[in-house]
Amino acid sequence: MSPYEAYFEFAPDALVLVDEHGRIVRSNLSADRIFGYSLGELQGQSIEVLVPEGLRRTHEKHRLRFMAEPRSRPVGPSLNLAARRKDGSEFPVEISLTYAETDAGSFVVCNISDITGRLTRESEDRRREALTMLGTTVAGIAHDLNNPLSVIISRAELLLVPGVELTSQTRSDVEVIYRHARRASRIIQDLLALTRQDPRPHETVNLNEVVSRALLLVEGQMLREGKKIIVDLTADLPMMMGNPVSLEQVLVNLLSNARDAMAAGSIVKVRTARSNGQADWIELAVSDNGCGIPPDALSKLFRFLYTTKPGGTGLGLWLAKRTAIEHGGTIEVDSKVGKGSTFMLRFPAAPSLHAGNA
Ligand SMILES: Nc1ncnc2c1ncn2[C@@H]1O[C@H](COP(=O)(O)OP(=O)(O)OP(=O)(O)O)[C@@H](O)[C@H]1O
Ligand SMILES: [Mg+2]
Repeated sequence: MSPYEAYFEFAPDALVLVDEHGRIVRSNLSADRIFGYSLGELQGQSIEVLVPEGLRRTHEKHRLRFMAEPRSRPVGPSLNLAARRKDGSEFPVEISLTYAETDAGSFVVCNISDITGRLTRESEDRRREALTMLGTTVAGIAHDLNNPLSVIISRAELLLVPGVELTSQTRSDVEVIYRHARRASRIIQDLLALTRQDPRPHETVNLNEVVSRALLLVEGQMLREGKKIIVDLTADLPMMMGNPVSLEQVLVNLLSNARDAMAAGSIVKVRTARSNGQADWIELAVSDNGCGIPPDALSKLFRFLYTTKPGGTGLGLWLAKRTAIEHGGTIEVDSKVGKGSTFMLRFPAAPSLHAGNA
């Protein structure tokens, strides 16, 4: 076998040698493999067997035109070309033609590349690009909405301070404005966390302080709704490695869920502790005596966009789980319908540092 023959035979692309009448004179190993034919089976067949059935007549016309004015060239690089395997299945290809006149007659070498893999990669790249763009847009909008919302929230808070004279109707209206602005702000924070590709940076965190900060955000509204928060923070709590903002967001989400689940007069308890008395894990539990969760819903709670609330987004617990995992921790739920629910987060403690009381 000459080097040229060896190249033809073993080239990675499918090579098919066709005579001036469109008959296949020879196909290489890749052509047989890619098109699903056995050795020598293509020999003598019309090149049109490799063309999808619906395109065979057009292909024949193009072939005759090509032979009338032969020229080596790629075939319509911008066309979406397809080829047909022996089993009838079709796949996308790129083709280039090399024309050769020899003593034995005129021939065309068709070089056929299967581009399925490349197209899949390209569409995957486009999808990822679109998602990144969407993420950037959402993050931009969310960020811009944050400022006006903060103004609405803080003005409403000022109006709700005890001692400010308001009619009971106005007070209740301001409370509605405040509650909805808070909710919108929480959704925005969740969306921002959702579009964030990389986890926020970790530092040494005192979980008791995270609890205190989260309470500042939710306690006022809960009290106004007649719902109480009892806090039980373990002194001498080990520190943990984490992001205080992400952890606070989780706690605000858990407390908001507790609030939604409870009627006026109910109590939610927030507790930090060493896990089972062990020094190297810490836990944070949020327990409410609200409506509870039916057993069949328990397995769905942490799913993306799972919600049973008319205006809910179903992001809160999904983000809580993602954050727990990002911190090397876990989140579990224990609930009884009509009795209440406990959400338990566990995190590894940072070695030999103590958080103490907040
Ligand atoms: N403490 C709870 N008591 C009862 N049901 C709860 C409790 N926490 C969560 N759930 C149930 O889990 C669902 C998902 O909660 P998640 O916080 O993920 O979303 P959501 O509260 O519905 O919407 P949002 O994205 O606004 O938080 C809720 O719709 C509710 O059915
Ligand atoms: Mg929620």
